Amino acid sequence: MLTQPDPITYLDHAAAAGSAYKQRLLEALDLHPDHTVLDIGCGPGTDLPAMAERAASVIGVDLDPAMVEEAKRRTAGLPVEVRQGDAHALPVEDRTIDRARVDRVLHMVANPTGVLAELRRVLRPNGQAALAQPDWETLAIDPGSVATNLAFNRFVCDRIVRNPVVGRQLPRLAEQAGLRLVTVDTEAPVLRDFTTADELLGLTRNTHRAVQAGRITRPAADAWLADLAAGPFLATFTLFSIVVSAA
Ligand SMILES: C[S@@+](CC[C@H](N)C(=O)[O-])C[C@H]1O[C@@H](n2cnc3c(N)ncnc32)[C@H](O)[C@@H]1O
Repeated sequence: MLTQPDPITYLDHAAAAGSAYKQRLLEALDLHPDHTVLDIGCGPGTDLPAMAERAASVIGVDLDPAMVEEAKRRTAGLPVEVRQGDAHALPVEDRTIDRARVDRVLHMVANPTGVLAELRRVLRPNGQAALAQPDWETLAIDPGSVATNLAFNRFVCDRIVRNPVVGRQLPRLAEQAGLRLVTVDTEAPVLRDFTTADELLGLTRNTHRAVQAGRITRPAADAWLADLAAGPFLATFTLFSIVVSAA
């Protein structure tokens, strides 16, 4: 009941569910054939091949050796270099990157502003980056108790996700890091399949954790999860994306 999904399978399923916004983020990068592109927190390399199709060279950086290994496997033979490293101290030279992407990484890091400062350091003058982050406070689910939905959100924001509202903070933090804001956008992805949403949003596993932590009662948790499984199901949340420039 509390088992974590395999991290690579999880990210593959999340990428499939988020293919529309991922495509928009890629288009926002405006890649050119002479560009050097950096994907910060590249995971298993999901989007590195698409970047390599449009640019001269691509660098993927991830902290997790298992992600780095899988990203290397998926990009063998492509103009892609995958490096293990920390986004707080990127293994990349100053002012060498034309385009960078940071897709759902800043909610995990110790210091989002520090990572944005690193992004600014590695971007060439006028280089651009596209970033995307969901806002976990905004998760709205139907059917079922709204009070339990809100208790679930509070628990996840307090105890599960390190920086749960970094999405709404992106414009401010980027400007504080010395980046110029080009665009700010939001969208609200809609999930209609409970099984998919349960895996991606951790509905069952985190509700059980909330019960163990005394944040949701067992009867309320059981009733909520039964209502969600019975459907018809809907979950949505605000996804923030920004484009910034190193002016
Ligand atoms: C939710 S996944 C997103 C992966 C990928 N950007 C995508 O869109 O599929 C977050 C990734 O960030 C990586 N990560 C977390 N903290 C990091 C850090 N401090 N430095 C580099 N990578 C980090 C994780 O290992 C993971 O692969």
